[in-house]
Amino acid sequence: MSKTVEERIYLTTPIYYPNAPPHIGHAYTTVFADVLARYNRLMKKKVFFMTGNDEHGLKIQRAAEKEGVTPKEFVDKMASVYRNYWITLDISFDHFIRTTDNYHERVVSEAFKKLYEKGFIYKAKYSGWYCVDCERYYSPSEYILVEGKPYCPIHNKPLEWLEEETYYFRLSDFKDYIISLLSNTDIVYPASYAREVLNRVLTEGLRDVSVARPRDRVSWGIPVPFDPDYTIYVWFDALLNYVSGVGYMYNEKVFEEFWPVVHHVIGKDILWFHTVVWFSILKALDIPPPKKVIVHSYLVNRGLKIGKSAGNVIPIDYLIDRYHGSDGVRYILMRLFNLDKDVEVSTELMDSIYNSELADTFGNLVRRVGVLAIKKLKGKVYKRDVDDRIENTIHNTISQYIENMEYFDISKALSNVLELGKTLNTYVNDTRPWEKIDPGRELYSLLEGIRALTIMLSPVTPKAASKISESFGFQMVSLKEFKIGQIERYNIRDAPILFKKIQAEKAGEAGSENPPSS
Ligand code: ME8
Ligand code: MG
Repeated sequence: MSKTVEERIYLTTPIYYPNAPPHIGHAYTTVFADVLARYNRLMKKKVFFMTGNDEHGLKIQRAAEKEGVTPKEFVDKMASVYRNYWITLDISFDHFIRTTDNYHERVVSEAFKKLYEKGFIYKAKYSGWYCVDCERYYSPSEYILVEGKPYCPIHNKPLEWLEEETYYFRLSDFKDYIISLLSNTDIVYPASYAREVLNRVLTEGLRDVSVARPRDRVSWGIPVPFDPDYTIYVWFDALLNYVSGVGYMYNEKVFEEFWPVVHHVIGKDILWFHTVVWFSILKALDIPPPKKVIVHSYLVNRGLKIGKSAGNVIPIDYLIDRYHGSDGVRYILMRLFNLDKDVEVSTELMDSIYNSELADTFGNLVRRVGVLAIKKLKGKVYKRDVDDRIENTIHNTISQYIENMEYFDISKALSNVLELGKTLNTYVNDTRPWEKIDPGRELYSLLEGIRALTIMLSPVTPKAASKISESFGFQMVSLKEFKIGQIERYNIRDAPILFKKIQAEKAGEAGSENPPSS
């Protein structure tokens, strides 16, 4: 069979500014994209999953200066910090892109030249208010006033006034194109975000944007190829990672394989760049728009978006430590996940998800069934007719799970699996296998349920999934190949305790309500 477009998927996360280590907000996006990558592999698709770092620009230049090292030394060190966090969190990236990679710099430089030659980039004077944390300009309708001074609405910090000769990109040329993409396609998901951008384009129109900075102001970046007194603007540089990472301009075969099926996962803070700006740059380069831009809302803590600037960051180390490794953290983040609404994070909420779902439902089920199989049948459970009640629940759960995953609703897909877990626990209580002389049928039915549940959980909790399959003696199969009755004999070697329960802290104990901030 020839490969159809549907059998491949290219998933990206934003490339993060490595001015500080990643925190729970970056983990939120990255784990979500990773679960989609793992799910699609489970559906037998060919997946290319990319994350990475956005290493140029003033923000990084200043962070390096503060540490007294060169920007290159700084980003090299931070690249391994990020990689290591992603490895700790079991992020199955196929490629980690850095904007200082040679091939990327070449693509950015070539693309800039191409757009200049096509007349989409021109030189003129620019002035405006700039936020270094966002690495972007703010117009008077966008910034907020604090004691009469323009402030960044996201970082709540004073903006810097910039006035300079620069290079502009003709964003205004693409107004009709952008309006038609936002109103006639379902690229932006959920659609509410497309409407939000569309309204802004319709009311404010599109103005040309600066895509370079004088070299004496920002030296850390890719030079404008035909004018080395200028540095290419960090967002122009950064957005192009999505095409340079899959061979654009140097490996057309790879590029054509993955570009039409690209899915960008982003937070809503960078929605404008990933729609209006990105779609226009692509169009100017004669590249089709992405297939999907999947947008999520914020994790908030004490009412504010979690971030360095707000000083309410929840460190990844804290989460890994408290929830006994990556699976707990991944599961909790995916249950909190919300595309539309901001989510208030608290230790109390995270603990309750961990304890009631992972420990009490999934963990307890696996432990009980494992212990019963070992005690009653010496761990050998032969194939029997699966109880209809269980069989139907498994089939329904799988189809609901797939439907929700296809709509990127991981939290809902997990709640389907959770229901299956509860049904299986109830089945244990109802059928009381411990009282039976031969509980083979009940245990085989339960094990088939656990096998289905393990496969569905595997994109979210890969470590627990392998532990279950090893302890119970079955091979993981793709969801497409899963059939009830496939296993001739289970061989239960161990009844693992997968998720150790977290003890609630005593009332009044310091730090019991909120996670530490750094
Ligand atoms: O914007 N809630 O990088 P960045 C949810 N380099 N998601 C959050 C979050 C929170 N509180 N905090 C961070 C940049 N994120 C650019 C991107 S892409 C070509 C260039 C996540 O380090 C979320 O995905 O500021 C958000 O969009 C991203 O981190 C911003 O990361
Ligand atoms: Mg940011």
